[in-house]
Amino acid sequence: MSAQRILVTGGAGFIGSSLCEKLVHQGHSVVALDSMFRGDETNLAAIIGEENFSLYAGDVRDVDDLDACVEAMGGLDIIYHLAAINGTKWFHEAAHSVIDVNINGTLRTLELAMANDARYVFASSPEAFGEPESQPIADGDKMIFSNPAQHQRHSYGGSKYLGEVASQHAAREGLDVRIVRPFNAYGPRLCGDDYGQVIGIFFQNILDGVDLTVHGNGSQSRSFTWIEDVVDGFVRAGEANIGPNMVFNIGSTEEISILDLAGKIAKFSLNGAEVVYGEGYFGDSTRRLPEISRAVELLNWQSKVSLDDGLQLMWDVLTT
Ligand SMILES: NC(=O)c1ccc[n+]([C@@H]2O[C@H](COP(=O)([O-])OP(=O)(O)OC[C@H]3O[C@@H](n4cnc5c(N)ncnc54)[C@H](O)[C@@H]3O)[C@@H](O)[C@H]2O)c1
Repeated sequence: MSAQRILVTGGAGFIGSSLCEKLVHQGHSVVALDSMFRGDETNLAAIIGEENFSLYAGDVRDVDDLDACVEAMGGLDIIYHLAAINGTKWFHEAAHSVIDVNINGTLRTLELAMANDARYVFASSPEAFGEPESQPIADGDKMIFSNPAQHQRHSYGGSKYLGEVASQHAAREGLDVRIVRPFNAYGPRLCGDDYGQVIGIFFQNILDGVDLTVHGNGSQSRSFTWIEDVVDGFVRAGEANIGPNMVFNIGSTEEISILDLAGKIAKFSLNGAEVVYGEGYFGDSTRRLPEISRAVELLNWQSKVSLDDGLQLMWDVLTT
């Protein structure tokens, strides 16, 4: 693909920073927009200072900030829209902000793409399916949400659902849209504090010398996808000439229970960390496994790094 002018929203975050690195190394002009809510400049250390990259601290809901990013590049060819409030604890504690940032950020960036006739890649989530009836999750399955009087976890999944609705609507209006649903990305920059994601938290527990707590009985399962595989999926979805209106599940098909995952990670501990049981989260999915045939067929994508290899790679980076 010839050099493009690319905006990555959420570009200082976990996935966004690795995506920026790859796009910059491919020779594109890249601007990362991030509010630094959970993003960090250090995530971008490898490319800060490159002439084809800049980081803009701003809000994805603010049209002046978005316009400034486009102006900095003298136009816009592709938006990868990743800015969002992510992290399970926030979904319960800050549902209003999750809905505000995730939905309004998506609407503003769709409008920006339309105004510039740019390609639009939306980072959705398997959580857009809510509590699906069957697994693996295939595109076309029903998206089902529980009663919000019980819990507000689906502030996030619901925001991704509406993001997909808005993206599909824009596609019908003629915008070149691709929707990517990553399934549990992991890698060294994954957030490991209380508001982070499970692999980041378990490794942080090991580094802090404390036990690993699984939620509930730990029988809930996930498929975890190495960060470079996820970024490769985003880039392939953004580059492919596949026609508009395409949705891709980007995830490893290797399934593991959280209890078994905790056991694997506990083995990295030199002090013999234990796995203990804690309270479950309301609305936590029992399984989240992707059906990836469209990504295989149209993008020639599938994950390459096994969970064992990825955990070892992550541990090596965290301890050097
Ligand atoms: N990590 C995963 O496994 C996963 C799975 C499914 C979907 N996703 C989606 O992929 C995207 C990236 O996820 P991530 O894991 O890198 O999360 P992340 O939290 O590391 O990245 C999101 C970034 O958005 C930024 N942000 C938040 N509010 C903003 C605002 N108002 N304006 C500008 N920037 C703002 C944050 O500071 C952060 O850097 C998100 O849209 C997320 O919902 C991630």
